[in-house]
Amino acid sequence: MMKNDIAIYPGSFDPITLGHLDIIHRASKLFTKLIVVVMVNPKKQCSFSPAERVELIKKCTDDLLNVEVEFSDGLLADYAKEKGACAIIKGLRALSDFEYEFQMALTNSKLNPDVETLFLTTRAENMYLSSSMVRQIASMGGDISGFVPDIIHKQIINRLKG
Ligand code: COA
Repeated sequence: MMKNDIAIYPGSFDPITLGHLDIIHRASKLFTKLIVVVMVNPKKQCSFSPAERVELIKKCTDDLLNVEVEFSDGLLADYAKEKGACAIIKGLRALSDFEYEFQMALTNSKLNPDVETLFLTTRAENMYLSSSMVRQIASMGGDISGFVPDIIHKQIINRLKG
């Protein structure tokens, strides 16, 4: 167990997938409190509103008593400071994620030296998964049941079908 026990799991979560949920389950076992924070990636145009994204994550994490879900439109480093977090959790997928994640981790530690970025390896079955792929499949009437949690499956389809 770490000295400080609050960790943050940031992302755009547009929408949350089974890959994200796996990381949340595993990280929630490592820390006393895990804050899942829906954030703004300025490079992305999101389909779900911040409130919808928070609601979807809350539905899937209702059973995890040490997990909180919030939205922030600020900087991740500042958010981590405000919450007194010791760690930022990221899921590492393919090798192609590495350069971008490395750059973000270094930038965040420069902005907030008190926080460490910790990478959890994504499970093999989620390696290829992404939120944009889920959105694309759902909007074209495809089956997304193997990609998103059951409890929000219908809500995502109803929202995205053309
Ligand atoms: N399993 C499956 N898929 C996963 C996954 C996992 N474990 N983890 C991530 N993914 C997918 C996501 O769904 C996402 O798919 P998409 O590109 O189709 O949307 C993709 O991998 C990238 O995810 P991630 O690397 O988490 O990026 P993001 O855009 O979701 O989140 C922020 C990036 C929001 C954390 C980042 O922009 C940020 O920190 N913003 C705040 C502002 C800030 O501080 N900026 C300076 C940063 S140095």
